[in-house]
Amino acid sequence: MSKVAIVTGGSRGIGAAISIALKDAGYTVAANYAGNDDAAKAFTDSTGIKTYKWSVADYDACAAGIKQVEDELGPVAVLVNNAGITRDSMFHKMTPQQWKEVIDTNLTGLFNMTHPVWGGMRDRKFGRIINISSINGQKGQAGQANYSAAKAGDLGFTKALAQEGARAGITVNAIAPGYIGTEMVRAIDEKVLNERIIPQIPVGRLGEPEEIARTVVFLAADDAGFITGSTISANGGQFFV
Ligand code: CAA
Repeated sequence: MSKVAIVTGGSRGIGAAISIALKDAGYTVAANYAGNDDAAKAFTDSTGIKTYKWSVADYDACAAGIKQVEDELGPVAVLVNNAGITRDSMFHKMTPQQWKEVIDTNLTGLFNMTHPVWGGMRDRKFGRIINISSINGQKGQAGQANYSAAKAGDLGFTKALAQEGARAGITVNAIAPGYIGTEMVRAIDEKVLNERIIPQIPVGRLGEPEEIARTVVFLAADDAGFITGSTISANGGQFFV
C-alpha cells in the first residue's frame, strides 16, 4: 500500500509542485490549504490530488484535519510543513498583527501539524518530517523580521526534533529555498525584485518550484533514513551556510 503524505499549503506555489512530485513518486497525497477554494478545486481537478481545508495556525483544526486524512487515506508517513505567508514591512512600520500572523503560520504551524502525527510515527517506527524554511531564515532579510525569525525558528525546531525522532525511525529535515518563482515572490515590488534581489542570485534567475519538490522526494524516501537534522539549501548560490 502506498504511503500517505500530507503537504501543507499543498495546492499552490512550491507546495503544489511538492504534492505532484510526491504523487508521481507513488505516495497518496493530501494537500492541505487554508483559504483559496478556487485554487484548491482547480488543483484537484487537474491532478486528482485530494485537498483539505484548515489553517495550520489553529491546533485543533490541524488535529481534526489530520484525523480526517488518516480516516480517509491511512496513517501519515510523510509530513511536509510547507505552508507559509509573508507580511513584509520594515521593522519600524511592522504591526504586532503582522508579526503574529507570520509567527503563528510559519513557526507555530509546525508545532500544530507535527504534534498530532508524532505519536503515530513513533508507534509505527517510521516517519519523515520535512520543513520548508527559507534562505531568509538563514541570512535574515531586511523587511522580514517576522518571516526571518519564524524561518530561523523552523531550523531550530528541525534540529531538536531530529534528535528526539532518531531512535523511533523518524527523520526531521529542513529545506531552505532561495527566491522561487511563485506568487509570493512575484508579489514583491518589481523594481525591488529586479534591481535588488535577482542580481544577488549567482545562477541569474529565480528557482522553479520543481527544484524544491525533487529535494522533498529525496528526503522522504525510505532509504534517506540516515539523513536527519539537516538543512538542504536550494538557492541558486545566493547564500552558503
Ligand atoms: N537593507 C537595508 N536597507 C534597506 C534594504 C535592505 N536590503 N531594503 C530597503 N532598505 C531601506 C531603503 O533604502 C529605504 O531607506 P530610506 O528610507 O533611507 O531611503 C528604507 O529601507 C525603506 O525601503 P522601501 O522604500 O523599499 O520601503 P517600503 O516600505 O516601500 O517597502 C518592503 C519595504 C515591503 C520590505 C520592500 O523593501 C520589500 O519588498 N523588500 C523585499 C523583502 C523581501 O525580500 N521579501 C521576500 C519575500 S519572498 C519570500 O519571503 C520567499 C522566501 O522565502 C525567499
